Amino acid sequence: MNIQLKFNASAHSSDELVILPSFSKGKGDKATLVDSDWTKELRSTFKTIKSASTFKGAKGSSFQFTTTEGLSVLIIGLGEKSDYDYEALRRATAGIVKKISGSNEKASIMIDGFVVKNKIEESMQAFAEAFYMTTYNFDKYLSKKNKPKLKNLFVESSQKTSALKKAQIAFDNGQKVAECVNVGRDFVNEPPNVLNSVTYAKEIEKDVKANLKGVKVKILGKAELKKEKMNMFLSVNNGSAHDARLVHLEYTPKKATKKTKHIALVGKGLTFDTGGYSLKPGGSMMNMKFDMAGSATVYAAFRAAVLLGLDVKVSCFLGMTDNAVNEHATMPDSIVTARNGKTVEILNTDAEGRLVLGDVLSYASDLKPDAIIDAATLTGACLVALGTEVCAVLGNDKKLTDSLLSAAKETDEYMWPLPIIEEWRDDMKGSMSDLKNIGGSSFGGTAKAAAFLENFVGEGVSWAHLDIAGVGDSQKHLPYCPSKGASGIIVRSLVRFLANQK
Ligand code: BES
Ligand code: ZN
Ligand code: ZN
Repeated sequence: MNIQLKFNASAHSSDELVILPSFSKGKGDKATLVDSDWTKELRSTFKTIKSASTFKGAKGSSFQFTTTEGLSVLIIGLGEKSDYDYEALRRATAGIVKKISGSNEKASIMIDGFVVKNKIEESMQAFAEAFYMTTYNFDKYLSKKNKPKLKNLFVESSQKTSALKKAQIAFDNGQKVAECVNVGRDFVNEPPNVLNSVTYAKEIEKDVKANLKGVKVKILGKAELKKEKMNMFLSVNNGSAHDARLVHLEYTPKKATKKTKHIALVGKGLTFDTGGYSLKPGGSMMNMKFDMAGSATVYAAFRAAVLLGLDVKVSCFLGMTDNAVNEHATMPDSIVTARNGKTVEILNTDAEGRLVLGDVLSYASDLKPDAIIDAATLTGACLVALGTEVCAVLGNDKKLTDSLLSAAKETDEYMWPLPIIEEWRDDMKGSMSDLKNIGGSSFGGTAKAAAFLENFVGEGVSWAHLDIAGVGDSQKHLPYCPSKGASGIIVRSLVRFLANQK
């Protein structure tokens, strides 16, 4: 879809759809329509339409009509003005995209009335994010593609040129973030017969070379991982037809000084999780191509930090392998020595993400960053604790988890903290080895996994862990996410977190 955006567009043509906001005041039968953003002419035309009398600007509602001059007008209901916020704007934008992309070639949106609390820049960023996140679809394997009709969208405003210049920049930033969300979604949706550790690493390198100027790329293969003594990570790769990869990316901002913060992002990149010898049942194995969503999420956030030129140094580590079974696959009861020297008894080969992440966290810790944040589809228990809509955050530094929670709040993504308690740390201790990769019971599974990971974070390093097992996929309740497939949720929280590191 080729969307053109123009501020202050001129007169409307008759083949164009004009989109306007409306609000409502009061509830139920007493609700009245608030049409303060309309022209006098429009208001009087609207009054002459009989069926229009029931339209009260309720949230999620819309009303379309044609004026006597032949102009098509779409009124979007935004509900009570006092409840209207950036998330309401994002959801309304998604609703508009879905409504018009199949029916009109040209449309103009009168943006001023959609602006949240006079904050034009923030509103334009939210609008662009939602717009491009909604137009995403993964149709490369469909013989019949559903081509949208919409070609041109004009964004009209009567604000001063200086304000519009800033609005344009904010819009472009929102578009960049959404583009990165969509790049991440593409990686997650790619099937496992196409995307494996080797092809995934190659594709990331290709994308970095093509789009991220100045970013350093280092790819560690099996031999390098052996040299690094990443035996936990390698134990997961034992049963695979594809060699493991650790992708290490580095972005240093142009104006970096000694004071510039350094954040390390770590992502679980399991291109498929069969469970290994502790094989998943068929139903649970389905969709396990999304077990690399953590790596796609941190890569998308890293990519956005580079494109936005954020003033923070970011290192990104993507641990890639699948968890498969062949005659070399790791057997339960195996004891391996991790990169940091700790011994781990692998009692369940399906608890593989923590084995990969543990060694990568140890590797990332060597750089002594100001903080490490990992993202992973780590536990089914996360869905039991927080549903499919909320991301769990855990860690060893409350200031860090609090700043992630703030970033999530600022971007309207759901994130909630879980504790790591001494009893769960004890539960992960082994009798024949320092640690076991599963706890004694499955209760508290998300936090026990985090209690395991904590052992591999370097001394004195701040660390936070995001379990995205629930939010990584199919966010049906979010109109700017596809109802099926990769969601791209948490990328915006991470980008905001990185932007806040000044
Ligand atoms: N990739 C899964 C976690 C997962 C499960 C994500 C369902 C999304 C939906 C992970 O590798 C796994 O299998 N974890 C096990 C851990 C258990 C064996 C301690 C789980 O959650 O069942
Ligand atoms: Zn698993
Ligand atoms: Zn997994």
